Amino acid sequence: MDQRILDILEQLTLEEKAGLCSGADMWNTKSVERLGIPSIMVSDGPHGLRKQPDGMDNFGLHHSLPATCFPTASALGSSWNPSLIREVGEAIAQECLTQGVSVLLGPGINIKRNPLCGRNFEYYSEDPYLTGEMATAFIKGVQSKGIGTSIKHFAVNNQENYRMTIDAVVDERALREIYLLGFEMAIKEAEPWTVMCAYNKVNGTYASENKKLLTDILETEWNYDGMVMSDWGAVNDRVEGVQSGLHLEMPGGGLDNDKKIVEAVKNGTMSMEVLDKAVAKLLQLILNGESNKDTKASFDQESHHQLAIKAAKDSAVLLKNENGILPLTKDKKKYALIGDLAVHSRYQGSGSSLINPTMIDSVYDAFTEKGIDFQYAKGYDRIDGKTDLDLVYEAVEQAKDSDVAIIVAGLPALAESEGFDRDHMKLPLNQTELIKEISAVHDNVVIVLVGGAPVEMPWISEVRGLLNLYLAGQGIGSAAVDLLFGIHNPSGKLAETFGKTYEDYPSASYFPEGPATVEYRESIYVGYRYFDTAKVEPLFPFGYGLSYTTFRFSNLVLSEREIDENGTLEVSVNVTNSGDRPGAEVVQLYVKDTTSHVFKAEKELKRFQKVFLQPGETVTCQFELDRRAFSFYNVDMEDWCVISGEYEILIGSSSRDIFEQSIVKVLGKEFQMPYEGKNIPSFLTPPYPFKAQDREFAIVYGKSLPSKATFPGEEFSYDSTLKEISSTFVGKKVHDAIIKQITRPYREMEDENAVVSKNMMKKMIPNHPLRSLAISSNGALTFGMLDGLLLILNRKRIKGTGKLIKETIRNKVQ
Ligand code: BGC
Repeated sequence: MDQRILDILEQLTLEEKAGLCSGADMWNTKSVERLGIPSIMVSDGPHGLRKQPDGMDNFGLHHSLPATCFPTASALGSSWNPSLIREVGEAIAQECLTQGVSVLLGPGINIKRNPLCGRNFEYYSEDPYLTGEMATAFIKGVQSKGIGTSIKHFAVNNQENYRMTIDAVVDERALREIYLLGFEMAIKEAEPWTVMCAYNKVNGTYASENKKLLTDILETEWNYDGMVMSDWGAVNDRVEGVQSGLHLEMPGGGLDNDKKIVEAVKNGTMSMEVLDKAVAKLLQLILNGESNKDTKASFDQESHHQLAIKAAKDSAVLLKNENGILPLTKDKKKYALIGDLAVHSRYQGSGSSLINPTMIDSVYDAFTEKGIDFQYAKGYDRIDGKTDLDLVYEAVEQAKDSDVAIIVAGLPALAESEGFDRDHMKLPLNQTELIKEISAVHDNVVIVLVGGAPVEMPWISEVRGLLNLYLAGQGIGSAAVDLLFGIHNPSGKLAETFGKTYEDYPSASYFPEGPATVEYRESIYVGYRYFDTAKVEPLFPFGYGLSYTTFRFSNLVLSEREIDENGTLEVSVNVTNSGDRPGAEVVQLYVKDTTSHVFKAEKELKRFQKVFLQPGETVTCQFELDRRAFSFYNVDMEDWCVISGEYEILIGSSSRDIFEQSIVKVLGKEFQMPYEGKNIPSFLTPPYPFKAQDREFAIVYGKSLPSKATFPGEEFSYDSTLKEISSTFVGKKVHDAIIKQITRPYREMEDENAVVSKNMMKKMIPNHPLRSLAISSNGALTFGMLDGLLLILNRKRIKGTGKLIKETIRNKVQ
């Protein structure tokens, strides 16, 4: 340990140490002036900086300083381009330096288990390997500038409904192979300064006090020596948390938990060594942050805007291009640009990642600025979702009068957000109807899709072009025009499977669950791992994306025919641009286990490379496969194991477009095979639609399934949510008063972000447990007051009222 830290530890009092373990307020760590320990600032992220100079909320309503809004992770993940993501990370870090922020709260890397998770727009992929590569690049980019990152949300936070209390019931194999792998890769490879724990429980224990996750896996297995902070309000039992490896509690403001730490050391529940360890991690972070501050830093808004445009272009995915309707040409054509979202182009999500962009060019603005001959019709209202026949009529008329009708459609801001999950996978009815009406009268319809996650497309066979921009950031308009008109050749690939209908997804019957538990019954069969294994035809497969040029794969060569499990296999393959435009292809390497000793996905992505090629140019892509590329997590051995046998090496441009393949024999050691002789047909041959019986899932889970019973349990507790306590008279009053209080400042606000955030709060706050409300109240609601309230709720009204009054007065006096 750094001598300076040892010296400081010696001089700190117990109270100061405990105090350092929680923030000073919403965004800053505490300082200790007498020892010259400064405070450093952390801020959201992750697709741009959200520094709030004057506010205490973490939901995006308060003003934040202008910053470049880059494409969100669902878009960036589709670029399959780590160097681009690194560049974006560097640019965001430069903005952090300029604004005096030391740690950016991102990247968010949870797996897209189900397309309806409200926060999928903030995550990269359904595939853990791709996620790990993207996260590594982002962290390296940010940290190369001396700004820390906070990889989040560790772990298994894949649903927003009930996120603060739900128990994610996930089998060990899926945990390791799907939900932890991205974290493992990025933590080992990029060493993020901090890790942010998730809100939820993982197999019965809150992530904020989960020793297995925070100490056994993160610290011991992965050798992580950075700092772990809580998600905002995620702490349950603070002392248990420190002992399990949670160093910093955020946000700060209340003193209750600091006092609990002091008490625990005094009464011997926790040793001083454990506390010193947490404080040392924190001091290290503060010293790193402080020494990297650069008061002279600045950034160039225009060049960052240009980078945002470049990132949007590299991330967009061309999903359909029938008879080469795209690219469009600027001359001699009349275009109809249709859709409310063309003018109010949705370019980012909402919640804690909401950014105040430095500038924004909508699709409409970019069409105008780039001199395109077009007529505009609104077509639908993006907010109310109701079909307006006048708008439809006008749009149809404009479309008839054009050579090509370009409809900008997509998820409205109210549909997807942090804090709650989507109700369904459909576009608003008024958009679906508009697309149908226009395609009924026009042969040349191109859809430009915006939104953070997949939607069903019942109209897909009726349109000729489909360009998916995801949430493309503040350069959305320029990017759209350059892509549509072929100034830039699309090269994005889906980082998630687009199913034909929601029911096609393996977790469809098990999402969102709650309030007590969510069972990950599909185990490892997430995304293409299920679609490909169960042979379910997707609308668009994982890894898929078109280009205006064509590519050819050839000459797959493996360095060996047989390797020992500890050996490495060199793989090379040629890719040629066989068309007539420069373009980029993503060469994807999948491994297929043919041994069939343990249930496995049909194939798994193990490597990829994005290559930029001139027409006629050929490059040789080289990959190296090591032991982990052939391993699975053996729950009996508690280790990664390689089954001896033949593995196919598959090269393609999506999980369904495989062009080259070859076989290697891998020699592994003998070991105990898990699930042997167990009757688990749904895992051996996953059915459609996916269902696993209780009995089968319990076998894979390795123990009996936890109860789904919820409140009314014995008694109300700190963990009871506002919604739960509202079943009582007093609880209902408290519930209403808190919702009113939280939404009050925004009641008069009319702008769209405020409407969206208010909606998010209304859906989210009732699911907040009382403990979290206390932590986030900046000291206004103490745990002492909560004790009084709980006595009242638990029918000890007189005692409770007395306590509540006493604690309220005490809080005021303090
Ligand atoms: C989110 C985090 C975010 C934090 C601070 C939480 O609600 O889950 O991702 O970093 O707030 O805004």
